[in-house]
Amino acid sequence: MNENTLESVQQCLNQFDVTEEQLQQIQAGILGDMERALGRQAGSSPSVQMLPTYVRSTPRGTEQGDFLVLELGASGATLRVLWVTLTGISGPRKEPVSQEFTIPTEITLGTGQQLFDFAAGCLVQFLDQLQVGSQPIQLGFNFSFPCHQTGLNQSTLISWTKGFRCSGVEGQDVVQLLREAIQRQGAYNIEVVAVVNDTVGAMMSCDPSPQACEVGLVVDTGTNACYMEEVRHVAELKEDRGRICVNVQWGSFGDGGALEPVQTPFDLQLDQESLHPGTQRFEKMVGGLYLGELVRLVLIHLAGQGALFGGVTSPALLTHGSVHVQHVMEIEDPSHGRARAQAMLQELGLTPSAQDCAQVQRVCGAVSSRAARLCAAALTAVLARVRSNPERSPLGVSVATGGRLYKQHPRFSALLQQTVRLLAPDADVTFVPSEDGGGRGVAVVTAVASRLALQRRQLEETLAPFRLHSQQLKAVQAQMRESMVRGLRGESSSIRMLPTYVCAMPDGTERGDFLALDLGGTNFRVLWVKVGSRSEEGIKIINRVFSLPESVTQGTGQQLFDHIVDCIVDFQKENNLSGQTLPLSFTFSFPCKQLGLDQGILLNWTKGFKASDCEGQDVVSLLRAAIRRRQGVELNVVAIVNDTVGTMMSCGYEDPHCEVGLIVGTGTNACYMEELGNVCAVPGDRGRMCINMEWGAFGDDGLALQEFYTPFDLSVDQASINPGKQRCRAREGGARRAGREDSDRRGWARGTSGCGWVGRGADGEGRAEAVANLGCPSYSLSARARYEKLISGMYLGEIVRQVLLHLTHLRVLFGGQEFPSLQTKDIIKTKFLSEIESDLERWQVRAILEKLDLQADCEDALLVREVCQAVSRRAAQLCGAGVAAVVEKIRENRGLDRLSVTVGVDGTLYKLHPHFSEQVKDAVRELAPQCCVRFLLSEDGSGKGAALVSAVACRLAGAAGP
Ligand code: BG6
Ligand code: GLC
Ligand code: GLC
Repeated sequence: MNENTLESVQQCLNQFDVTEEQLQQIQAGILGDMERALGRQAGSSPSVQMLPTYVRSTPRGTEQGDFLVLELGASGATLRVLWVTLTGISGPRKEPVSQEFTIPTEITLGTGQQLFDFAAGCLVQFLDQLQVGSQPIQLGFNFSFPCHQTGLNQSTLISWTKGFRCSGVEGQDVVQLLREAIQRQGAYNIEVVAVVNDTVGAMMSCDPSPQACEVGLVVDTGTNACYMEEVRHVAELKEDRGRICVNVQWGSFGDGGALEPVQTPFDLQLDQESLHPGTQRFEKMVGGLYLGELVRLVLIHLAGQGALFGGVTSPALLTHGSVHVQHVMEIEDPSHGRARAQAMLQELGLTPSAQDCAQVQRVCGAVSSRAARLCAAALTAVLARVRSNPERSPLGVSVATGGRLYKQHPRFSALLQQTVRLLAPDADVTFVPSEDGGGRGVAVVTAVASRLALQRRQLEETLAPFRLHSQQLKAVQAQMRESMVRGLRGESSSIRMLPTYVCAMPDGTERGDFLALDLGGTNFRVLWVKVGSRSEEGIKIINRVFSLPESVTQGTGQQLFDHIVDCIVDFQKENNLSGQTLPLSFTFSFPCKQLGLDQGILLNWTKGFKASDCEGQDVVSLLRAAIRRRQGVELNVVAIVNDTVGTMMSCGYEDPHCEVGLIVGTGTNACYMEELGNVCAVPGDRGRMCINMEWGAFGDDGLALQEFYTPFDLSVDQASINPGKQRCRAREGGARRAGREDSDRRGWARGTSGCGWVGRGADGEGRAEAVANLGCPSYSLSARARYEKLISGMYLGEIVRQVLLHLTHLRVLFGGQEFPSLQTKDIIKTKFLSEIESDLERWQVRAILEKLDLQADCEDALLVREVCQAVSRRAAQLCGAGVAAVVEKIRENRGLDRLSVTVGVDGTLYKLHPHFSEQVKDAVRELAPQCCVRFLLSEDGSGKGAALVSAVACRLAGAAGP
């Protein structure tokens, strides 16, 4: 061989030299692309993909169990199946059983179905030999292509790389495709639990001691790396704490042109002739699939120049793919390389001289050295990111390495490591070979995924009773309807259907100044309501919220009413109203048996109230007695009004179709305009009267809702201040059954002449008798189904807390850690549900939990949100079933095919929860299709409506004359 020849070869190979400066530029280029891809910066188009893998921690070493692993795509057209047994920390290590299958080219280039059927067939063949029987098998799928993962077992193929191009797979979930193929085989009970990239398999297969590997590097037919990134840097995930493994997909680096300075004409030609031209430019300079081809193109070029083989080529040398990476690795073998070169060239139909063989060795060396050095540059970019992580191990960084080129090439790993030291001299890097070709790591991820899947099943089982279907809701609606009718007839019913003596809606001509009290919701308020002409002044309200300490709501009745009068006096002073005796309306949001507009006997406390000596008493009398005790104060109590009624009246002022009042706040209840003829408790059959349903007690008779009660609801009930209720509590010695109730009803209703106006009420005699006979059905003590406790804000937080305790106990939540704050009753308020269910990022949800001293990770945060959603959705649906029963009753009362009606609504849960109101509406639409229901929010609270009740009474009294 002459000097010229050597010179030509050298000149050609010089093109494969990459200077240190160029390597540094590539390192910086990859790092910049990685950071841009992580940050999803607008307008930038990084060429690496940075795909989150949903692997959130490196192995703990505790994982156990038998797993089936399927590897597809890592080693060219070879598919591998493994049976991996993980034995935990103390168990003896077990070698995996594995088998390789060659995938025919017509399959790698065929249809997706062919490919997945082939894979499933290999699984069956493997398992048949293993004789695993019919046990359920958990499979981890090592799929080495760029995928967009949305979970550990959901992964959409972005694009094929390397030697694969099966139709109908890009854009599809490969886990699903594999599942379907396994089902088509129908032979084994295999569940595909996790899908991972080969780099992740490599990273996860390393022993966690002395330090966990935080980087996975693969150089096989393709090349790529993954590493543990701080999740707050992964913009796509919108999380703030913890780490996640990111698949860099560095094979595509340079697709935007960044590699042009180091590309040779051979690289360009190789790309043009490849299966996926224009893509994976970096991989095409490094991956084993391409090194043989680059060597082949160089040999053809040198032969063409007369520098090799005496200027002769052969058909085989001219054939695409005839030189493999295996050849390159063998030719570079220090002891037998020369002989291997000769053998390969002869196999290609050439007659090489000894010098030819030596030159071919140089060519292989140049191509593979460049590959190792480029790969090192990319790795130092990844190391730079890992080292910027403040939580990284103080021992330096361990890199798990895998892939045949890395492992089997005689110089590749040494050269790569040497170049890493050159480019990152102060990085303390340890290279750790991955075990079982990454199969073990796939099994580890599968173990984690299967634990998570078990937790998901436990969550689903826990929440299943909260998920109601249409038939169940229809049954609730029907039962509600039945209870309404029985209540109206005075028969035994858990819904009391209390007459309110409100029979007319405001017509806009009402005028005057009124005082109002609003007691029983979240706030206790005193109001001054000025009712002017609707078209001009409208209604003006001045109000003040007063605190009601628990010592008052749960002390003696006298303390409660004295406190109320004190607040009124303060309010009067503040507003220069002292000395004026304005008509006073009292919104009192508890079940009262009304005997007229200004007399209401408290049947029983509900929600958070428990003041003594009030049940069975006329609330207006208690208030008047407190006024007398205060001396020097004159107040004229005109009306006592339930909050539902106040809400209906208040909304009725805006919308004359408003004939239903609904509260979903601390408690829940509804009222509506019923035909007087249907109200047995009040004589007369002309006109309508508003009925306070007191639906919170629905189901207390044990005839409805029983099936919906979960153990969590029972616990909440047991821990409430009125366990076994919302239900009608029998007065001592006065409990009576429905049949006897009739006489009471007639008693107090006697003297009431129909309902032509707002609440003239019963005469004195009737009232006295009624107060004495507060009988109502007594239900069996086992009755535990209370509608209000399933729906209203006072209880939902507690239900959620009970579910969270259970899930913690199952170790589904908080890693099983039992936080003391979760043991605290009422720690979860309705506001919490509203916040957590609004459109927040995971970290924001976590921050809310942290305010309650619950240390949650992002997964916990999502689970807590799911629990809240299930509990509040059930509440909304049950409430919707109630509203549907009410509007359907109104429609049928009036014999209409279609009813248009407005529901006035108030209550913090309904108003503040992000989805509750829509879910109520959805349920009503479905359950009452013949009703067109408008929901109108009450803006000023029910005090305004209560004042309007008085105003209408005054108007009608005025019209009736003195
Ligand atoms: C208020 C009304 O707006 O809502 C009260 O003025 C009513 O009368 C209350 O009781 C119900 O909601 P919450 O959430 O305060 O119980
Ligand atoms: C290709 C694939 C990538 C894989 C790598 C190594 O680059 O796109 O997902 O990790 O090859 O097999
Ligand atoms: C409770 C009360 C009821 C009230 C409702 C809403 O259910 O018993 O009277 O309307 O809460 O506040």
